[in-house]
Amino acid sequence: MTTVRELVESTAAVVGDRNHARWLVEVAVSADHLDEVFDEEVTQRMVAHLDIMIGRYRSGEPLQYVLGRWAFRHLDLFVDRRVLIPRPETEEVAGVAIEFARAVEGDRTVIDLGTGSGAIGLSLAMELPLDGTSVWMTDVSADALAVAQANLAGIGRSARNVTVVESRWFDDVPDELRADVIVSNPPYIASNSPQVDRSVDQHEPSIALYSGLDGLDAIREIVENAGNYLKANGVLVLEIGFDQADAVREVLEKHGYADIEIRTDVFGNDRIAIGRWRTGAG
Ligand SMILES: C[S@@+](CC[C@H](N)C(=O)[O-])C[C@H]1O[C@@H](n2cnc3c(N)ncnc32)[C@H](O)[C@@H]1O
Repeated sequence: MTTVRELVESTAAVVGDRNHARWLVEVAVSADHLDEVFDEEVTQRMVAHLDIMIGRYRSGEPLQYVLGRWAFRHLDLFVDRRVLIPRPETEEVAGVAIEFARAVEGDRTVIDLGTGSGAIGLSLAMELPLDGTSVWMTDVSADALAVAQANLAGIGRSARNVTVVESRWFDDVPDELRADVIVSNPPYIASNSPQVDRSVDQHEPSIALYSGLDGLDAIREIVENAGNYLKANGVLVLEIGFDQADAVREVLEKHGYADIEIRTDVFGNDRIAIGRWRTGAG
């Protein structure tokens, strides 16, 4: 007989990281709290599932894809190779969007462009008041939207406030939609960047990562068009690359945004660009 505790020990010895071992075993034995089942016996099926996960992990596949889930703010998101793995700095981007949306008096409408797993949009839906909140989530990738839809099913009553649209940036967003906050973590890596981790480049969808020669194609397009969908005093919140602050500030200025701000992430890098649309779309 093998117990869950023994399985964690043997897995840690193979993968070389105790936390990773615990998370892998947690998924293999379908336990939310491993400590509570430490002395239980494992089945052959659990061991077989774990073996497959360990094989994928050791071949270099990111842990998040192997686990098939990852935490983001208050969400436990389903993730696989169809979507970018949600990052901690993006939790802060979502937090800024939530802060601006919460400050709106009356009903609030928010758009999350390039939603991927749904990390940002679903956080907004979950954390903003149930009444008076509308969240629109878009992506050009039907594959990504299938993942976002699966995660939408997991947020309970807040799901009723969410609309999912397959769209290339604003192309299929309804013309008449007007938002208080537009938020996006667009692809922003330069296509020939030497700084991308091999594991990221190999495993995560390139459409979620790369955006033209300087990495700014998506940001330029979003900034240029967001004004058509923002209410007066509506805010655009963008995740940006650590070295893109000056360039993004310039693009925001060029297109007439006010109160432009660049905020840093937990690691001290420039990461969040904010601009306010004074006039409001017609
Ligand atoms: C960096 S990922 C962000 C995913 C998710 N919002 C997050 O923060 O984890 C960028 C997302 O933008 C989507 N995307 C790329 N090009 C797009 C386009 N032209 N129009 C709409 N979405 C696009 C990708 O499919 C991907 O899901």
